[in-house]
Amino acid sequence: MKSRAIRIREPGASDRLELAEIDVPEPGAGEVRVAISTAGVNYIDTYQRSGLYRVPLPFTLGLEGAGRVEAVGDGVTRWCVGDRVAWAMAPGSYADAMLVPAERLVALPDAVSEELAAATLLQGMTAHYLTHGVRETRPGDVALVHAAAGGTGGLLVQMLVRAGARVIATCGTMTKAELARTAGASDVILYDEEDFAARTRALTDGRGVDVVYDAVGRATFEGSLASLRSRGLLCLYGQASGPVPPFDLNRLNDLGSLFVTRPSLGHYVADRASLEGRADAVFEAVARGELVQRIGARHPLEAARRAHDELESRATTGKLVLTTGNVA
Ligand SMILES: NC(=O)c1ccc[n+]([C@@H]2O[C@H](COP(=O)([O-])OP(=O)(O)OC[C@H]3O[C@@H](n4cnc5c(N)ncnc54)[C@H](OP(=O)(O)O)[C@@H]3O)[C@@H](O)[C@H]2O)c1
Repeated sequence: MKSRAIRIREPGASDRLELAEIDVPEPGAGEVRVAISTAGVNYIDTYQRSGLYRVPLPFTLGLEGAGRVEAVGDGVTRWCVGDRVAWAMAPGSYADAMLVPAERLVALPDAVSEELAAATLLQGMTAHYLTHGVRETRPGDVALVHAAAGGTGGLLVQMLVRAGARVIATCGTMTKAELARTAGASDVILYDEEDFAARTRALTDGRGVDVVYDAVGRATFEGSLASLRSRGLLCLYGQASGPVPPFDLNRLNDLGSLFVTRPSLGHYVADRASLEGRADAVFEAVARGELVQRIGARHPLEAARRAHDELESRATTGKLVLTTGNVA
């Protein structure tokens, strides 16, 4: 069947995104064809578009979405035509239809709409593995979360607070600071205006925080290290401001036997049990109203370029989604 898709033929700026017509074949063994109603926009999409992360070309953007099962391939017993499903880390989601490996799909509870699933799954599972996989959050922990009004940051703050942590947040504007406070942050620092490491030390009586969640990268890395307590952990999980330059590991010793990790969602949902466990935890919390994802903007599929421009210019809060017009 034919599908509209947002593709790149070469990496580059957002003007490389083009609306194309592609063929989506019948599903092969172990595959499912889904009609996509909503695709989630994630920062990693911009890394794949720009060439920071290499992808096979031509490449249909988008790793996350939700919709309905349209056809199943040989050997697929778990899914039936019409099932409401979502996925994360499956390329090709900026489209009307795509093939997804059956074992990468998750079912939607009745209380979670397709739009909300596409807005929550990837970033929610990220917040989940960061708070319950990389390091188990303990009551009384003090965490520093950068870009706390973003799609991932907002969910991360909520999960940390629910697990009993105190959260110090950073963000770019006063409007974003209000959102970070609503998510549960006790203190918010405008990191473009203030030395966030010095302020974090002051807010922790000189001790420093137990853990820093940093997906801003180049611009915040040094300050993140300087914000940690002795033997604290820096979770460097992204690079919205650019990659961190090469680093002398001996400095971790000088700074107090620090730990640094550079994790990816794919490694924390690699098997079916961890994928289902994290997806269930996220959707159950969303259904109970304990985890709230704000949809900052909805754009039609063909406006993907605008979504990338907004995300890369720090103009967004919460989550951006693309809608196809397939009935959700
Ligand atoms: N490793 C993983 O498993 C994983 C999974 C999901 C997401 N991530 C990472 O998490 C980060 C956030 O992703 P997201 O999709 O939720 O995006 P987002 O946080 O909604 O948007 C990015 C935010 O980063 C902040 N930022 C600071 N400096 C920036 C700069 N120079 N350029 C652009 N943005 C800048 C901005 O917030 P302020 O204006 O408040 O500074 C901006 O709104 C990304 O780095 C992404 O790669 C990693």
